[in-house]
Amino acid sequence: MTTNNQNSCCSGGSQTDAAADTAADTAAGTDTGTEQTVATHVDEQTRAEVSKNYAEALKRTQQSGEIAPAKSCCGGGGPATEATVAQLAGYGLMMDDDLGSAAQSSFGCGNPLAFQDVQPGQTVLDLGSGAGLDLLIAAKKVGFEGKVIGVDMTDEMLDAARANAQKAGATQVELRKGVIEQLPVDDSSVDWVISNCVINLSTDKPAVFREVARVLAPGGRFAVSDIVVEELPDSLRQHAVAYSACIGGAISETEYIVGLEAAGLSDVKVTERMVYTTDQLAGILTCDFGLDEAAISELGEALKSVEGKVWSAKFSGVRN
Ligand SMILES: C[S@@+](CC[C@H](N)C(=O)[O-])C[C@H]1O[C@@H](n2cnc3c(N)ncnc32)[C@H](O)[C@@H]1O
Repeated sequence: MTTNNQNSCCSGGSQTDAAADTAADTAAGTDTGTEQTVATHVDEQTRAEVSKNYAEALKRTQQSGEIAPAKSCCGGGGPATEATVAQLAGYGLMMDDDLGSAAQSSFGCGNPLAFQDVQPGQTVLDLGSGAGLDLLIAAKKVGFEGKVIGVDMTDEMLDAARANAQKAGATQVELRKGVIEQLPVDDSSVDWVISNCVINLSTDKPAVFREVARVLAPGGRFAVSDIVVEELPDSLRQHAVAYSACIGGAISETEYIVGLEAAGLSDVKVTERMVYTTDQLAGILTCDFGLDEAAISELGEALKSVEGKVWSAKFSGVRN
């Protein structure tokens, strides 16, 4: 496994204990990633909390005019430039002026479209599209003869993505309100499914994987960046902040691959990994949550114990 410290993060707002309890249920009472039982029911309360937290987190990035995720999660220590955030997330040369506001409100943990063979004229679907950074990158790849669909459950994110697409002149981008466990998308209708740091937030991941298989056309491909965990102690699984921070609900890489294969997808593999250090995990947990030093200090041992066991993985695969 390679370690790459150039990572971005996934962040949200505060979280209730109920949502944290669901995260703990997801872990099914065991600490070992590969032995976890993946939850198979939608928890409406957790979903509502996640949506509220991301609406608040978005507002903070819009109000501050700074790049909140990079500022607090990625060790910048001060206001970051948009280019810095993009580079941290692995966007590098794909950035240009059109992507500025979308990058400012990005909460991803990778760059699912980097090096992907998306062709002009194709249709790309982004699950949990947030403020739309990946939608705009996809729009550049498919061109005006193609189509890009973003699905998100949070009105504020949809509004931000629409505004960002309009600003970039990306008329081929369409935003749809919906949940990733029940996509508002026709069967076999898209060439690509992409997603950036979202599926970990679902309380019914098998449903998401089934939906990915349903909407992909035969031969269609998926490219998903997400946080995975090899092992997570209960103190993190049950922590009130960790679920929205994309850690508490994360499953193992093996569970991810098995889940996608069970849904009927083939050639599922991990093509990139960015492993988080203890400091970076602490940064993710403090990012936009107002978690103070005392709270982080309480989690000190738990965070140290998962050093090297939490990472952002990029999954790819195909629908036969
Ligand atoms: C961590 S942010 C990532 C946003 C975007 N992909 C990015 O890279 O900036 C998670 C996004 O997923 C959305 N989301 C979370 N769970 C969802 C679900 N079950 N259905 C639809 N959207 C969801 C949230 O509203 C939020 O916009």
